[in-house]
Amino acid sequence: IPVDPFDLVIFGGTGDLARRKILPGLYRRFCAGQVPEGSQIIGSARSDLDDAEYRLMVAEAIAEFGGVLSRESASLDAFLHRIHYVKSDAKGDGGWKELQATLRDGVVRAFYFSVGPSLFGDLAERLHTFGLTTPDSRVVVEKPFGHDLQSAKALNATLAEHFDEHQIYRIDHYLGKETVQNLMAVRFGNMLFEPLWNSQYVDHIQITVAETVGVGGRGGYYDKSGAMRDMVQNHLMQLLCLIAMEPPAKFDPDAVRDEKLKVIRALEPVDWHHIVRGQYGADDNGPGYRDDVEDPKSRTESFIAMKCHISNWRWAGTPFYMRTGKRLKARTSEIAVVFKDAPHSIFGVDAGRHRNVLAIRLQPNEGMTLDVTIKEPGPGGMRLLDVPLDMSFADALGPDAEEAPDAYERLIMDVIRGNQTLFMRGDEVEAAWAWTDPLIEGWQTRNDVPKEYEPGTAGPEDALMLMHRDGRKWREIKA
Ligand code: BG6
Repeated sequence: IPVDPFDLVIFGGTGDLARRKILPGLYRRFCAGQVPEGSQIIGSARSDLDDAEYRLMVAEAIAEFGGVLSRESASLDAFLHRIHYVKSDAKGDGGWKELQATLRDGVVRAFYFSVGPSLFGDLAERLHTFGLTTPDSRVVVEKPFGHDLQSAKALNATLAEHFDEHQIYRIDHYLGKETVQNLMAVRFGNMLFEPLWNSQYVDHIQITVAETVGVGGRGGYYDKSGAMRDMVQNHLMQLLCLIAMEPPAKFDPDAVRDEKLKVIRALEPVDWHHIVRGQYGADDNGPGYRDDVEDPKSRTESFIAMKCHISNWRWAGTPFYMRTGKRLKARTSEIAVVFKDAPHSIFGVDAGRHRNVLAIRLQPNEGMTLDVTIKEPGPGGMRLLDVPLDMSFADALGPDAEEAPDAYERLIMDVIRGNQTLFMRGDEVEAAWAWTDPLIEGWQTRNDVPKEYEPGTAGPEDALMLMHRDGRKWREIKA
């Protein structure tokens, strides 16, 4: 889809996110012809740099984090010509006039706040005071969007002083993942699934986001957040919404977000017996959580598993089990819809229990499998077996799947096109915190201590018990 020329200012333009994701992503989009002639990408930060020095930094970032580009990369120079640098001070007046002079009329204007939330207000205010914004310009803000309901409300209020909701793009990069969008295509583009997509036919749903990395160099931030704030309140919540929501009348930003909001508001408070928190211990490959964060008494969780319920007509009675953690067995993200047993087995009890499972793999090896029960081949009588109908997107779609833009690329282009469907609306973020806050307060007042788990496993034993008690089982965490 063609893109109009744009001016994109990246505040925090020398920071980690800009170097790892935003700039290499923009370069890939440039190679795909989506950073048209007449566009400018303007890095801005406190460092004293000129265009040439910044371009060098950008070139290095692309070399380090750009990934494999199948198209020729001789165009790097042409891309770097679109890059500029203007020093600015979020807390002072320096640089803003220069920035203003760099922007042009008649092109899309976007400001990416790739900085900590404590600077959002300062940046928004200066953009306004120095006349950099137009009624159509956009701001992009990163997570964490607040630390709790109160701080999220304060951030929303600050942004609302200078921008309309239709100008604010709150990023949750999980929404930019190919398979996450595919979830909507699968649900609402097929006749096959939707009639069965309810508590009458679905026994339960599992959402797993497992990582092998620890908190490494991010201990300072992470220890104040934990898995609940870092992953569940945003990424897992978004996955849950897309799985559970009613069909929107059209694929339009507010129609989609209205339906997601209804899901969050229908989430019941979670019984504390249904929450398991864990911290990874040490092993030969690395230190334990408490050493990583340098607080030997930290009670922050690097793993969480929980059983949730959505109180509405569609889902009453169907549990949603969610888990996420660091230093687990494999890096894998998956949603599994586990259907109920057939109402009556004509093959007798010996045939065992067989269930259809639709598993949607987000990463790695994006794809879907649908377990179907068939007869075990051979002369042994009517013995049943579950086999997967397996579709790897890379196999099914070939090079197109491999060249699909990554989450950040896609989302940045959506900002330029002015499409908010894959961004969180202010009320959605607040509703998610309103559900999360009491759970966190609950374990804090109970002085709950996370269970230590062995790195390279599926997390604490108690998390397995969470499902066993219900006669159910987590799917294996495997790459
Ligand atoms: C980030 C979290 O939002 O998502 C990190 O802050 C986490 O802690 C990351 O590692 C996971 O993202 P992905 O795309 O690698 O699954």
